[in-house]
Amino acid sequence: AETHYHEFVIQPTPVKRLCKTVEVMTVNGQFPGPTLEIRDGDTLVIKATNNGKYDITLHWHGVRQMRTPWADGPEYITQCPMKPGQTYTYRFTIENQEGTLWWHAHSKWLRATVYGALVIYPKLGSAYPFPKPAKEFPLLLGEWWNRDPMNVLKLATITGGAPNVSDAYTINGQPGDLYRCSSRDTTIFPVVAGETILLRIINAALNQQLFFSIANHKMTVVAADGFYDKPFSTNVVMIGPGQTTDVLVTADQPPARYYMAATAYNSARGVAFDNTTTTAILEYRNAPCKSKNGASLRPVLPQLPASNDTNTAAQFTSQFRSLNQDKGSVPLKIDENLFFTVSLGQINCSRPSIRCQGPNNTRFTASMNNVSFVLPTRNSILQATYQNTPGVFTTDFPPVPPLQFDYTGNVPRGLWTPVRGTKVYRLKYGSTVQIVLQDTNITTIEDHPMHLHGYHFFVVGTGIGNFDPQRDPAKFNLVDPPVRNTVGTSPGGWVAIRFIADNPGVWLMHCHLDVHIGWGLAMVFLVENGVGELQSVEPPPLDLPQSSLASAKTQY
Ligand code: C2O
Repeated sequence: AETHYHEFVIQPTPVKRLCKTVEVMTVNGQFPGPTLEIRDGDTLVIKATNNGKYDITLHWHGVRQMRTPWADGPEYITQCPMKPGQTYTYRFTIENQEGTLWWHAHSKWLRATVYGALVIYPKLGSAYPFPKPAKEFPLLLGEWWNRDPMNVLKLATITGGAPNVSDAYTINGQPGDLYRCSSRDTTIFPVVAGETILLRIINAALNQQLFFSIANHKMTVVAADGFYDKPFSTNVVMIGPGQTTDVLVTADQPPARYYMAATAYNSARGVAFDNTTTTAILEYRNAPCKSKNGASLRPVLPQLPASNDTNTAAQFTSQFRSLNQDKGSVPLKIDENLFFTVSLGQINCSRPSIRCQGPNNTRFTASMNNVSFVLPTRNSILQATYQNTPGVFTTDFPPVPPLQFDYTGNVPRGLWTPVRGTKVYRLKYGSTVQIVLQDTNITTIEDHPMHLHGYHFFVVGTGIGNFDPQRDPAKFNLVDPPVRNTVGTSPGGWVAIRFIADNPGVWLMHCHLDVHIGWGLAMVFLVENGVGELQSVEPPPLDLPQSSLASAKTQY
């Protein structure tokens, strides 16, 4: 195994898109940021320096961080952010994982531009479970704003108003030529007729699940979130923020230029979103650029589903089956049986510290089991646990909702007003855990891409409506469920996941639509060896950014 050393300098960088130049944060001046390429078993050492103007952290999305929770990165969960001028070195090892992951900033909305691919190849001497593709490309889907995303955040989330939608979607940072003033900003993927390529699709968008298609070409899904799946063929991929999907594409069409395109999948009713389409081009070698009569040829556009096509999304997702069960089999006996509601809602602005823009002196909020998560502002939960500092969090996150009702029915909004708090749930090291994540209709139903840090999990079941604890478990897939780190709740439905709590530390679980994290759609697991004990965790690195008494300027 090798150790790879990288320097990441986070810096303000002028980036021009849609004919406007915006100064955004980047790593090493690159947008998207550098691709990290390693093998399973390798160690990464990334020295990060914050030369920007905002507090920031970096997160290695999907990396388990076994015994190294200090390198995980979510701000105020596992570390305090690097202040402008500070440096912090992230050091971690990849254990038993292959495929595509990614990295991104984990502070406010900075990940809008601070992100990149993390590609994990098989160990030396081992191979992919499919024929070696002729070429491989990371394909990062993102969002672009015509202004600093931090200002968009300030306007949207902090005031509790509706989110400002982005000005474009992007593929590898480029909106593509369907946008006005964007004709040269198109990513090209070159192919030779007859060859097969591997696309490592990553949804790095802040607030949008996306449909992705390639004109006239089928895709074969082979992996997701850093784990292989039984191959299946599809015309369209639905991918939530945080998720990755690896697909093989065979260049089996007449040499030409074909659009690859992505557009919104939005299951929430009455919520504004960007309904534009981003494109890249799959370009065959020797593709004619003019037709016989001399007219220039436009690439063919793929058929994309309608933005509210929940059937296509559900049908796509239902096809995932894990390829290798030997990587850890599904826990059959459950020690911790948890049921978490995942809700959007509104909260009364009785506290003067909250600025409100919503109707009747309310603001949007979001909660899990009626708790709207509040980030600490002075210390990280991990550091407070490790050093036994009281007052940073409480351990009373409820294992089941405090109130039962028809979650997906006609729920009166007034039924449930969340409490705000920094509540964690304790898990005993080594326990087997099942969580049913239940979407609710308190404000609107929505497909929430839920991400768990420090773990990946088996997705054993999903369904629409209210979870039925008598009937539904009988239908669980305990044979070859897909392994993921981010899973959609399914709009107006539920999803059940299982994992073994074998990684001590402090681990955030949240919706990967960033506007929802800001509203509080998050909770934290504290996985301990004994009460307050984090035995096998390595000691904090000496350069860990220290807690500060000055509270963060931007508070949700
Ligand atoms: Cu991709 Cu909490 O993050």
